[in-house]
Amino acid sequence: MVKFELMKINSTSEKLEKIHTDAVAVILFEGEKPSGKIADLDKALSNAISETIRLGEFKGRLYETTSIFAHKKIPSTRVLLVGGGNKNEFDSRLARNVAGAGVKRALKIGVKKLAIYLEDEGRYEEIIEGVYLATFDPGLYKTKKEDAGEIEELTIVGKLNDETKKHAIVVSESTNWVRKMINEPANMMTPAKMVEEARIIAKEYKFKLEVFNESEAGKKGMGAFVGIAKGSEEPSYFVALEYRGGGKKTLGVVGKGITFDSGGISIKPSEKMHEMKMDMSGAAAVLGFMKIVGEVRPKINVVAALPLTENLPGGRALKPGDVLKSFSGKTIEIINTDAEGRVVLADGLSYVVKLGATHIVDLATLTGAVIVALGDQASGILGRPKSWVEQVADAAKNAGERVWQFPIYPEHKELLKSEVADIANIPPKKGAGVIAGAVFLQEFVPEKTSWVHLDIAGTAWLDGERPYLSRGPTGVGLRTLVKLMEGMERES
Ligand code: BES
Ligand code: ZN
Ligand code: ZN
Repeated sequence: MVKFELMKINSTSEKLEKIHTDAVAVILFEGEKPSGKIADLDKALSNAISETIRLGEFKGRLYETTSIFAHKKIPSTRVLLVGGGNKNEFDSRLARNVAGAGVKRALKIGVKKLAIYLEDEGRYEEIIEGVYLATFDPGLYKTKKEDAGEIEELTIVGKLNDETKKHAIVVSESTNWVRKMINEPANMMTPAKMVEEARIIAKEYKFKLEVFNESEAGKKGMGAFVGIAKGSEEPSYFVALEYRGGGKKTLGVVGKGITFDSGGISIKPSEKMHEMKMDMSGAAAVLGFMKIVGEVRPKINVVAALPLTENLPGGRALKPGDVLKSFSGKTIEIINTDAEGRVVLADGLSYVVKLGATHIVDLATLTGAVIVALGDQASGILGRPKSWVEQVADAAKNAGERVWQFPIYPEHKELLKSEVADIANIPPKKGAGVIAGAVFLQEFVPEKTSWVHLDIAGTAWLDGERPYLSRGPTGVGLRTLVKLMEGMERES
């Protein structure tokens, strides 16, 4: 079990004007007047809600929040109006975000006990997730908390069943756990520390675990992984986890686990280099996902591979021009040591294939190019066959995580051209950076195996705060994997 239930969550079918909390949050859409339960609440407040709307102080715009004092007319201290935006555009992603926007505001005004009401039933899972995600505090090492707000008790107004509640808590706590891992600086979240977390998970959920240090990985033939690992003094590890739930399908998940990416000898500019502690976001999401696999115990098989290392320019570091022999036998010419993710993932992909993966998803903060293309609003998705790409894209949609597909045309193989080895780690000329990453990874997946690559470089870390989310790590990818797993289990 996920042990830390930080927040008390309950539900009630009580009238809004009877609930006793610090704030009753009600979600209203653009142009909407109080009706139903909210109209009754409005009446109890001598029309304070409809007056606020009439005066134009609340328009129901997306993420808008207005707090109204209840003046002891109801047991709760205040009512929080939260804008849901255009009702026709409202979906599960927005439900989660709108709940988050309400919570962010609630935290700022010191609310500890919060009730949330959304007329649209069946979005309770999203609401709980939105609440959890919004409460994440990135100020991990601040000795004095600035907005030390915390929601201690959440009341969902409606019929929340225990299963939905438990599922939402498990997924949200896992997501915040992933975000905490990513937020940890690289001197704390070393490969060894990630191995420690993997060990705890494997023990708790009885997964088969393999941990190879650099020398063991070298002996196994993981020359691509070891090539990158050589530049760092911090011990590197290749980790594999196996869960066997039965059935014909085996989902293979591979996460890029670069605990710090300096670029290596092809060193990065110093501006923003500190953010490269987030280059293990893919591996963290995969670990968080494995926790959920352990909780849910689906009737499919799940295998995971995590190449964990720093990318540093040490004395024995990989140099541009070096050639590596990967686990698959293919040779790789390194043109740029900063394109390290695809190199370590090459061995990760081969390894889940070896463990029997029939369907693969890799999660990686792989390219700056995906940020140029999509910014922080969507992850890049590429892969084959079309049906598997669509299945993963659907799962992402259900999870409220946006993805946008890039093509891989046969001609894109040109991006791999090397003079001395089978393939090079970057293309001979500029352009198509996202595709170049994917077409490289594709080389390490057999034709018959379904494979999807999610480039999360733009979505794993937010540079600025959003109304419903703090800046910093998002935990992206985890919820997509959960929805995917659930869908695969239904199919089997
Ligand atoms: N970890 C980076 C990609 C990245 C950039 C993640 C910004 C998050 C934010 C990756 O290893 C990298 O450096 N990629 C290079 C590839 C290039 C050398 C072909 C890039 O995108 O610049
Ligand atoms: Zn890099
Ligand atoms: Zn990187």
